[in-house]
Amino acid sequence: MNTLQDRFGRSIDYLRLSVTDRCDLRCSYCIPKGFKDFEEPEYWLTFEEITRVVAAFVRLGTRRVRLTGGEPLLRRNLPQLAASLAALPGLQDLSLSTNATQLARHAESLHAAGVNRVNVSLDSLRRECVNSITGHDSLPQVMAGLQAAKAAGLSPIKINMVAMKGVNEADIETMVGFCIEHGFILRLIEAMPMGDTGRNTSYLDLQPVLEQLRQRFDLLPQSLELGGGPARYWRSTDGAFTLGVITPISQHFCATCNRVRLSVDGTLYMCLGQEERFALRPLLRAGISDAGLEMAIREAIELKPERHEFREKPGKLIRIMSMTGG
Ligand code: 5AD
Ligand code: SF4
Repeated sequence: MNTLQDRFGRSIDYLRLSVTDRCDLRCSYCIPKGFKDFEEPEYWLTFEEITRVVAAFVRLGTRRVRLTGGEPLLRRNLPQLAASLAALPGLQDLSLSTNATQLARHAESLHAAGVNRVNVSLDSLRRECVNSITGHDSLPQVMAGLQAAKAAGLSPIKINMVAMKGVNEADIETMVGFCIEHGFILRLIEAMPMGDTGRNTSYLDLQPVLEQLRQRFDLLPQSLELGGGPARYWRSTDGAFTLGVITPISQHFCATCNRVRLSVDGTLYMCLGQEERFALRPLLRAGISDAGLEMAIREAIELKPERHEFREKPGKLIRIMSMTGG
């Protein structure tokens, strides 16, 4: 079987696909207020171009693809793209990361198109807190989106909560209760110093938080991987609660990194925290062959760095999350 291996022996079998760099929210750790530097539509890869690139990745052994952004549901006709990706032979898992403001309208068609599971960003259950983090009074829509996702049969549903000291740290407990009630998996995430917005976010070390939750809910580590990603999972002994912890800062997981990211303008980014990249759009628009495209992807994977340096060089990255794909 074909596989993509990088210089450090890691198999790359997971592609995160940013279908737009725009977003209807302005989370304090992500897009700066008043930010205007979005990609021009003429540089967006078309659905045909995206499908070609993903097909090449799948021929090279990629098994999982996640649709992301920015906010992916802002890209018109997204279910149409999802359907062509889901139809690629060899692709086993098509998922979506969304802020869920528009999920209520799209959950069913996405599921019908072949999206099987979804991750929803939600940092608090207090309306004012969500308003102040995201810059919008978005909690009611997000709740409607979550309900629709559940009704449509998207499963599992994971809640991504960026934990911030003094901002929403006290909301973790309520969020745990909410997730138990609805059967959602809670994933706590440490803020990364991406751009000034990320750097100005009050970091919360999740190790002590995990310690407390472990004792409180009798959590046991899960060896089985739940998402093929960087989260370490824990489950309560009664099975009612599953927790994922994503600790890029306090305990990085670069040694098992299995992914690269394709941005809306057709650039492959090799690491969230580094600058290595490879531009595919010029090749696509110059009529490169399928074999040529596979060669280009292999060449790109050679650039993948060993690890991020968020701790050693927090000032390094100017790029914000929505540009690369969260
Ligand atoms: N640090 C950590 N996570 C971030 N996200 C965006 N910016 C950051 C950052 N600086 C993540 C959030 C959100 C997803 C879309 O991107 O988890 O849920
Ligand atoms: Fe939008 Fe997600 Fe960035 Fe928030 S974190 S501004 S929802 S892309």
